[in-house]
Amino acid sequence: MLQEVTVTRYITPLREGGSLPGLVEADDFGTYVLKFTGAGQGRKTLVAEVVCGELARRLGLRVPRLVTVELDPVLGLGEPDQEVQGLLKSSGGTNLGMDFLSGALGFDPLAFEVSPEDAGRIVWFDALVNNVDRSWRNPNLLMWQGELWLIDHGATMIWQHNWPGAQASAARPYDAVGHALASFAPDVRAAAAELAPLVTEELLAEVTAEIPGVWLEDEPGFESADALRKAYAQPLLARAAVIHERIEGIK
Ligand SMILES: Nc1ncnc2c1ncn2[C@@H]1O[C@H](COP(=O)(O)OP(=O)(O)O)[C@@H](O)[C@H]1O
Ligand SMILES: [Mg+2]
Repeated sequence: MLQEVTVTRYITPLREGGSLPGLVEADDFGTYVLKFTGAGQGRKTLVAEVVCGELARRLGLRVPRLVTVELDPVLGLGEPDQEVQGLLKSSGGTNLGMDFLSGALGFDPLAFEVSPEDAGRIVWFDALVNNVDRSWRNPNLLMWQGELWLIDHGATMIWQHNWPGAQASAARPYDAVGHALASFAPDVRAAAAELAPLVTEELLAEVTAEIPGVWLEDEPGFESADALRKAYAQPLLARAAVIHERIEGIK
């Protein structure tokens, strides 16, 4: 289970990407990056963050700790910025939080060196979850304490937006042209040999069990949250075995 905290103070918006995550302080005195359930694609983006973040972590990649964050929409009343006020007011209940890596630098492919092994692991993982948001323009990678950290897994698993077509969608190749790490000779074969055997039904059950139940309620076509958890696991299980053969755009 992800730890649960409650927002005590909204600090400031992070205006880098599109979704306007907020920096908040919580009742455990921690500082978190808050991803709002009321933003854009809403709860499905947050489900993707949990599934991909917790899977990546279990595969040995670095992802800031995730928590669930309870928010009282009344916090929006004191917020002068209209857009932020809208997000706060529409995001009462359970949101996603991530440890704020204070002092982290955005990854710059021209300024940092990444080994073919590390690049291979990250490209292979992004292919597995079909991450379309790790380009050199927008790497969603942070350098912190001398290590590379993965953030922002909202734009992954496109198949979750159309469950009846999920199997066909998940069978498609991954386009790695323009991937932030494409220029580091990513060794995706070595990564697949190392990581694919770890992506088992058991591991995926553990990962999908971390999704807060409230984000799985009332999904058309599913009788229960557990059925939907299995639907998240299935394409990943199928892709893990074959995706290294279907990565396009890298040598
Ligand atoms: N855990 C974190 N620690 C430090 N900075 C972060 C963290 N998460 C996000 N950021 C900063 O906030 C920006 C926006 O967050 P991100 O998750 O990429 O959302 P989006 O791109 O949807 O706006 C990032 O590009 C990064 O600069
Ligand atoms: Mg981003």
